[in-house]
Amino acid sequence: MDSNSDSEHSHSSGHGHSHSGGHSHDHGHAHGHGHSHEHGGCGGDHGDPDLAGAASNQGEDEAKALSEVIAAFLFYKQYTVNGGIYRRLHHLDNLSERHRSIISSVGTIDKIKNAEKLVRENQQFLLSLVHASTIDSMPDPTDSESGFKLWSKRFFEFREKSGKPPVADQHMDKVYSVLKQFVRDWSEEGKEEREQTYGPLLESLESEFAQVTPESRGDLRVLAPGAGLGRLAYEICCRGFSSQGNEFSFFMLFASNFILNSSEQVGQYTIYPFVHQFSNVVRAEDQLRAVQIPDVLPSKLPFPQSAEFSMTAGDFIEVYGGDEEKGQWDAVVTCFFMDTAKNVLDYLDVVWNVMKPGAVWINLGPLLWHFENVADESSIEFTRDEFVNVVKQFGFEWDEQQFKECVPASYTANGRGMLQYTYRSFMSVARKPR
Ligand SMILES: C[S@@+](CC[C@H](N)C(=O)[O-])C[C@H]1O[C@@H](n2cnc3c(N)ncnc32)[C@H](O)[C@@H]1O
Repeated sequence: MDSNSDSEHSHSSGHGHSHSGGHSHDHGHAHGHGHSHEHGGCGGDHGDPDLAGAASNQGEDEAKALSEVIAAFLFYKQYTVNGGIYRRLHHLDNLSERHRSIISSVGTIDKIKNAEKLVRENQQFLLSLVHASTIDSMPDPTDSESGFKLWSKRFFEFREKSGKPPVADQHMDKVYSVLKQFVRDWSEEGKEEREQTYGPLLESLESEFAQVTPESRGDLRVLAPGAGLGRLAYEICCRGFSSQGNEFSFFMLFASNFILNSSEQVGQYTIYPFVHQFSNVVRAEDQLRAVQIPDVLPSKLPFPQSAEFSMTAGDFIEVYGGDEEKGQWDAVVTCFFMDTAKNVLDYLDVVWNVMKPGAVWINLGPLLWHFENVADESSIEFTRDEFVNVVKQFGFEWDEQQFKECVPASYTANGRGMLQYTYRSFMSVARKPR
């Protein structure tokens, strides 16, 4: 993750809307590790709008969280152009003639102006994304006549009252993260990153159930919590398993809903995910490059008939911690997820809860504890060795042979940038005793 810039645990519902069923990919409306850690923007983690927590005020909190996310998507261009592009151009205006002409001669000014155009194109994409996810009862926020004005009025009023700018910086970081998350999950360019992480997870899952043919795996239920934009859950289904992703960030949910349900063609959408990143760039073309998504058509891939694919919206603990989910799952697959917990023992309780006796839990990721530096939040940060010990104490059967101490993996990396982060992730396989 280039940045766990995102934070994502907080308010709202905690229910799980499961939009599942057969081969439909319906999954409701719509995470990070942040600059602080500059590793991957999975669009959400601490303190941004999501579907966790506060069961009281549920409706109100959820509506507020939803508004903040929609505002961030809608004000992307305004925020980025006013705050970033114009600021840069204005700064150049104040330079001496000599400096300006040198800067101009190497192409920097053209680059900034081109970036502005591409931000505008990104905005069109984001408008479609919001449009596809807004629910019927809301005014269409992308309708310039009614919707956008109404929404903008509401947001300005709301933020003005609180003395804050229309969109909080951390929310805009989420929007930038979502664009990069699309590259990770749904572009040709993301293939290498997916192979590093989803590759070993899928391989282990398939070898676990090697005795069952893909055609008859539909009865096997696999849960992928912290699903991000859904590619891992989708790949699990492509291998014949019935798979369910779970996600609580509205940013992620909007984006996954869009790509899963609104794509009609491979490469249908063009985005410019790296346009905001002016540092550590080798060539302007790298920063301004287009990325086409999706690289596969989620609706068209022929899943084996019996395999079902679904996504649930809500906090993992709240959606899966109850009795109705007890012993319902044959496998749990977690990728860059366990470190999003304030107290990972809570996650382990739920993983244990959902697993059938004999079920397997396959995990891969680093330990970038998302709440480590979040003010007023509790956080328990285990070392990897401590984590392994905790898992063993829970009663899981630890598969020593499949434990990999170091799986190099990047997260929403800009493969052409001068700065590259690689996590020395670990991979673990553990089973619930029969
Ligand atoms: C680092 S991202 C990884 C996303 C995806 N697994 C991948 O590898 O690209 C972690 C994801 O978990 C989600 N998440 C964090 N806490 C969660 C919770 N309590 N319930 C559900 N999702 C959560 C975040 O919103 C984010 O999308």
